[in-house]
Amino acid sequence: MRILFLTHGFNSLTQRLFVELRRLGHEVSIEFDINDRVTEEAVELYRPDLVIAPFLKRAIPEVVWRGTRCWIVHPGPLGDRGPAALDWAIEDEAREWGVTVLQADAAMDAGDVWASVSFPMRNASKSSLYRREVTDAAVQAVTVALGRLQDPGFRPEPLAVNPDGSRGRWRPAFTAAQRRIDWQRDDTTSVLRRIRAADGSPGVRDEILGLPVRLYNAWPEWNLSGEPGTLIGTRDGAICRATVDGGVWITHLRALEGGRRDLKLPAVQVLGPQRLAGVPEIPLDPFTVVGTGDTWQEIRAWNEDGVGYLAFEFHNGAMSTDQCRRLQAAWERLRRTSARVLVLLGGGDFWSNGIHLHRIEAEENAAEASWDNIEAMNDLTRSIIETGDRLVVSALRGNAGAGGVFLALAADEMWCAPGVILNPHYKNMGNLYGSEYWTYLLPRRVGPKAAREIMGNRLPIGASQAREIALVDAVFGTDAADFAAQAACRAAGLAASGDLEARLQAKQSGRRRDEASRPLATYREEEMRRMRLNFFGFDPSYHVARYNFVHRVPHSRTPLHLALHRRIGAAAGTGTITRNQP
Ligand code: COA
Repeated sequence: MRILFLTHGFNSLTQRLFVELRRLGHEVSIEFDINDRVTEEAVELYRPDLVIAPFLKRAIPEVVWRGTRCWIVHPGPLGDRGPAALDWAIEDEAREWGVTVLQADAAMDAGDVWASVSFPMRNASKSSLYRREVTDAAVQAVTVALGRLQDPGFRPEPLAVNPDGSRGRWRPAFTAAQRRIDWQRDDTTSVLRRIRAADGSPGVRDEILGLPVRLYNAWPEWNLSGEPGTLIGTRDGAICRATVDGGVWITHLRALEGGRRDLKLPAVQVLGPQRLAGVPEIPLDPFTVVGTGDTWQEIRAWNEDGVGYLAFEFHNGAMSTDQCRRLQAAWERLRRTSARVLVLLGGGDFWSNGIHLHRIEAEENAAEASWDNIEAMNDLTRSIIETGDRLVVSALRGNAGAGGVFLALAADEMWCAPGVILNPHYKNMGNLYGSEYWTYLLPRRVGPKAAREIMGNRLPIGASQAREIALVDAVFGTDAADFAAQAACRAAGLAASGDLEARLQAKQSGRRRDEASRPLATYREEEMRRMRLNFFGFDPSYHVARYNFVHRVPHSRTPLHLALHRRIGAAAGTGTITRNQP
């Protein structure tokens, strides 16, 4: 089928559906929801069999849904309606939630139902639920709905009609007052719920040490306590605020007044040293074992069954210069333990998304800050590549993008959970050339031709496709949790296997061969020569793209590499562009 995605952006859920539907053999083109006329034009150009709206903030124009079947992917169970579905699910402590595929009609989320899939709720932020459970359920629901479309006997189910004639259960957006935290009365669990229901957007409004802010990325603290509402500690850029029965770590804030009001940054950076004078830093060594959910630990390292693990839960997968340095220090220590197999676990939602664009944007000299950040990423990547006496595995429970993918490729093996999406390219960030030794790591895995295509196409790659093109070595598990359990078994198996020594020998001689043919340092030099032009040269594209990205500047058009229908239109008569060309 020819399917047009009408979407606010090419976000993680849209990327996953894009990958999965193409895998099922459908042709998928994308149009960003910019205004009604542009949407109508896209439908006229493409003449799709079906329009799917995976992530839409406005209604589909009537002329479109009357002329073409349109499906809305709603992140709520059967009958649920409204713009704050997941916020309500978290606030109401729902035990089960779901995703529903509805046919668009005149009333929002009230059309006939094509499919609905439910899932058990997890104690997590709205963004995390969206990226994992909602995305998995959306893929299932859309797949079921597509199957039903082929069944001439199937009739989509109308929503139940209420006594007043309305349909389903409409719930409005949250007000700021409904999200308010009362630090003198709310316990840790309620504060977490409030913050998580608003995370990543819009973020709970609050005031800390006299500064109006929004709060993001909260974790419980059960071992510290203090006067409710006071700050009782800082750690790795986060603050811990006391509640009536414990505390809450908040890693990021967005200041609502002052110079850089718009940026989401580490809480300590936003509050500044003057406000934080007297608040103690409470460090936690990455190797300290803490109970699950007891406190916040950004980098965690441990040994188990002969395997060394390194987990790094960096918010949004973004890795600043100091985070790269801390991670490298933990890596160097892990390398010195007895474990012969080392597993890089990344974070639960994201494995890594490369350099930290928000931190860079906040710096006075963004070009210098970009340079320092990429140097820190490169040092870390080199350290992994040069770990000759250990077998290194990157195990991806969550997505990875840009430099984050190449960092993962520095390992000897790369394993992925089945729903993982990889974006192994940099060009979308203002034609950034990229570093992290990608010119060495990517062609050595997939060959030079495929490497050029991957970098040039700028498209997301699903785990299965990544396996087929040898970008990753293994994809397994039913979901991310099952993947993690199986990855531990596989890693322990590798550590215990009789041929580990031979594999390590082969790895070392392979590296020596590569070094003799072209020294690793020269890849970095050449990449950094190109990056210097991106950061310090006359072409400002990278700085403009970064500004637009971190400030979430709305799209003014759909990029041609996504809008297949516009490429076909542009090439009409030239014969240069054909359907299905990626
Ligand atoms: N630096 C800082 N923040 C980043 C980031 C980065 N490298 N990558 C992602 N984020 C943040 C986004 O700003 C967003 O923040 P918000 O939710 O607080 O507004 C959040 O992570 C999620 O990003 P989003 O784009 O909504 O996620 P996605 O899953 O839909 O898309 C990517 C994932 C990787 C395709 C996309 O985030 C991306 O292109 N990131 C930039 C990668 C990059 O160019 N890195 C620099 C070169 S190494």
